[in-house]
Amino acid sequence: MKERPEVSSNSTKDEVRKKRKNAFSRRGFLQGLGAGTGVLSTGVLAPEVAEAAPTTPVHGPGVVAITLDINGKPYKASVEPRTTLCDTLRNHLDLTGAKRVCDRGTCGACTVIIGGKVMYSCTVLAIDAQGKKIQTIEGLAAPGKLHPVSEAFWNHDAQQCGYCTPGFVMAAKGFLDRNPNPSYEQVKKGLGGNLCRCGTYVGVRKAVLEAAKNIGGQHNA
Ligand code: FES
Ligand code: FES
Repeated sequence: MKERPEVSSNSTKDEVRKKRKNAFSRRGFLQGLGAGTGVLSTGVLAPEVAEAAPTTPVHGPGVVAITLDINGKPYKASVEPRTTLCDTLRNHLDLTGAKRVCDRGTCGACTVIIGGKVMYSCTVLAIDAQGKKIQTIEGLAAPGKLHPVSEAFWNHDAQQCGYCTPGFVMAAKGFLDRNPNPSYEQVKKGLGGNLCRCGTYVGVRKAVLEAAKNIGGQHNA
């Protein structure tokens, strides 16, 4: 840190002026910055810097038109840039399988698969999900059919109120894609990001093990 220049009562006016001139000053600091980085002391970017500045497009704050690739189909919506994928699915696209419970990435009720990764849709902005393949519980099986994971949940009565179930099924599907032959402990750990307030964990884990058996090698196909 630079010391404040001392001014004794014996100093003449000229000496005082000289000492102050040589001292570190805010003006001098800003001017120094300007010389080094192209930022003028007025706070305006020098032309060469302005030209080099990144041209990231700014969206919002109003609604913007977006297109999402969901379950193999394009979906169009107009949402504010701050809107999460979860809210977009539920409130704009009528895809209500993903549930909004904690809305802060802790319960897993909103789980979907994005680009092959299991994700909490409440932590993803819809605008950022454009250009990625999104899979929701609605697209897991053909209409009128059950995916082997859903079927195993049914067989093992792996739900009570059912509110967490779509998230668990999507998390299980994503888990089995990566681990086709898991142990009970691996299933327990692999689904650790999903909570069930009704406590159906044992049934869920048994269901996932049964689904793994029924799917066999075809799960990664
Ligand atoms: S609602 Fe998304 S993790 Fe809970
Ligand atoms: S079945 Fe009720 S929260 Fe899981």
